[in-house]
Amino acid sequence: MLGRLARAATGLLALTCVAAAGPEKVDNPADYLTKFTKIATRDAHLGGNALADVYANDIALRSGAGESDLASGAIIAMAVFSAKLNAGEPALDAEGRMIKDQLRAVNVMEKRTGWGAEYSEALRNGEWEYAGFNPQGVKSANPTTSCFECHGTLKGLPMDFIYTRGELAEAAARMKK
Ligand code: HEC
Repeated sequence: MLGRLARAATGLLALTCVAAAGPEKVDNPADYLTKFTKIATRDAHLGGNALADVYANDIALRSGAGESDLASGAIIAMAVFSAKLNAGEPALDAEGRMIKDQLRAVNVMEKRTGWGAEYSEALRNGEWEYAGFNPQGVKSANPTTSCFECHGTLKGLPMDFIYTRGELAEAAARMKK
């Protein structure tokens, strides 16, 4: 009896894992600095004293030229840095841009055919999944609901939930030349 119960419980656990959605699907793109293409640097990331470098893999670049949705296998990684401060205000370089201090996080969005089906229509962002990593590459255990919600504000726009879609399209066009 106990054995059967234990087996049933294991079966249930396996089922739960298969059905699980979320950041566990997204691997740390450890080689983004060498294998991906940098498409943008944004100052004042999310309105704060932070900068973001955005990198796209080849599938994202090849499918990101126009306005249509990206292909399965697209990965975009964003390295978030704190900005150097001077008396509490961001220090600026000769061009008036913020200056990177420390790498704080690497945020990743990745899409694959069939991903996202577990979410409600309201939360789902097409086939995208999200995950945050610390500078050592360890995945954050925080829920990714806020990633979905904030990127979800682009729903209905020809951007495929990518804020830096304009920069991605420009980088894609440059690659084709
Ligand atoms: C409050 C809004 C907000 C939240 C929450 C948010 N993002 Fe973003 N994200 C942005 C904005 C805005 C950008 C564009 C970069 C910029 O302007 O600094 C961006 C850019 C990105 C990019 C680069 C591709 C793109 O869309 O431009 C990735 C990857 C990304 N975010 C992942 C994540 C992940 C993972 C989470 C959750 C851990 C998350 N984001 C949470 C607003 C948000």
